[in-house]
Amino acid sequence: MIDLQLTDKTHDEERQGEALVIDAPEVRNGRKLYIESYGCQMNFADSEIVASILKDQGFETTGDYHEADVVFINTCSIRENAEQRVRNRLSQFGAEKRRNPKLVVGVLGCMAERLKSKFLEEEKLVDMVVGPDAYRDLPQLISQVEDGHKAINVLLSREETYADISPVRLNGNGITAFISIMRGCDNMCSFCVVPFTRGRERSRDPYSILAEAQDLFDKGYKEVTLLGQNVDSYKWKGADAEEHAEIEVNFAQLLEKVALISPDLRIRFSTSHPKDITDEVLYAIAKYDNICNYIHLPVQSGSSRVLELMNRTYTREWYINRIDAIRRIIPGCAISSDIIAGFCTETEEEHQETLSIMDYVGYDFAFTFSYSERPGTLAARKLADDIPEPVKKRRLAEILLKAQETSLMRLQQFVGKTVRILVEGTSKKSDLDLCGRNDQNAMVVFPAAPGVKAGTYVNVYIDRCTSATLLGTIAVEVPEIV
Ligand code: SAH
Ligand code: SF4
Ligand code: F3S
Repeated sequence: MIDLQLTDKTHDEERQGEALVIDAPEVRNGRKLYIESYGCQMNFADSEIVASILKDQGFETTGDYHEADVVFINTCSIRENAEQRVRNRLSQFGAEKRRNPKLVVGVLGCMAERLKSKFLEEEKLVDMVVGPDAYRDLPQLISQVEDGHKAINVLLSREETYADISPVRLNGNGITAFISIMRGCDNMCSFCVVPFTRGRERSRDPYSILAEAQDLFDKGYKEVTLLGQNVDSYKWKGADAEEHAEIEVNFAQLLEKVALISPDLRIRFSTSHPKDITDEVLYAIAKYDNICNYIHLPVQSGSSRVLELMNRTYTREWYINRIDAIRRIIPGCAISSDIIAGFCTETEEEHQETLSIMDYVGYDFAFTFSYSERPGTLAARKLADDIPEPVKKRRLAEILLKAQETSLMRLQQFVGKTVRILVEGTSKKSDLDLCGRNDQNAMVVFPAAPGVKAGTYVNVYIDRCTSATLLGTIAVEVPEIV
């Protein structure tokens, strides 16, 4: 994975295998939970719900699975290699279980949902298998295992949003946090396993979302990212705050409501879908300074024929029209994408169309993947995975190179200018440097200065960049802020 792909924290595969540690509960049960997460940010957000449920049961968390009584692994199925990583990890937990037979090992998340009871047959050391909508049942399932049985709950729900459970913030920086606004996905992109692992799309009520955002802001957080597989189709219907009338809230309206909490609270969101992103959403972003000028709008392919096979329900022309609307309504907005190389039957010309749409858009970032057939998906059932591996690899490399080129060009536009950034903490590479993102989500690194700490907004003069990072110094005078 190249640096470029490390710039968007919402993306799957960026964080993997992190253990979560939280404050001890008030009443302890003397037992310890180790929880490790893989996949997209929604999975990480779910682990915070799981930790909250078990904390209420008196569990303490630990960052070392050797001292745990219960080990959970929250899994991802998006590509074959994501599942492989989990299986490798499970064999390590297996060694621990041989040493300590009382250890409870649970598989949560998308792989649990995809494989269901097969998991228990395939991986003998696993005691429990729990799908993403069944986490309220965890305490009961743990008791079942302790009574000597295997436990499984993979029921998907049409309603569950865990709206009333306040997630415990894990391993965070205390400045930026994620808020799930919906679950599931009703699109049936032919390559994608998510509709099968996460179930039907449902939107969380806006009151609990606003309360969570307000609470984070009150605790000192300065940035929230609203999460959903397709945030533009957020739609909630129900009683208004006074319970007088029935109201409907769409994504543009939700964005506005969150933005109004405070001008000092930045709002980001992910993922937008090209078929659903409306001008109303774009106008909301343009209207509020604190809604960040950054849209993750995955194209997947630049060819209309391939897009149709992918069942993305838009064409190249439609996508370009949405890009033009973004450029018109939010000048300077950063745009990122997900792109799949070597989807079924993709020709060389169609691959070139992907490269040319990347040139047209000039993506700030692009996350690139080689097509990985997933059992049970429409593509697996109907289309041959017929692009030879070496061809997929070569196309992927070409897409990656193009992404680096456009990313560098986009970052170079900031050189010689001053950008406003939210300080997130010290830079990964040196304690003497601080880092944070600008409005357009570009990572900025600069030397620390007295009085400048995490959670403050500062102006940084950019004097150079790499293809992934802007480098500069805190600005004393402010020539032009972008
Ligand atoms: N809901 C988001 C994406 C979720 S999955 C959206 O609609 O864009 C994240 C990305 O993984 C997808 O955008 C896609 O580019 C990639 N992906 C999903 N399934 C894949 C597969 N079978 N092979 C390769 N990449 C895949
Ligand atoms: Fe998968 Fe498509 Fe849903 Fe995204 S919109 S999660 S790619 S089915
Ligand atoms: Fe996310 Fe992976 Fe599931 S990307 S929704 S954890 S399949």
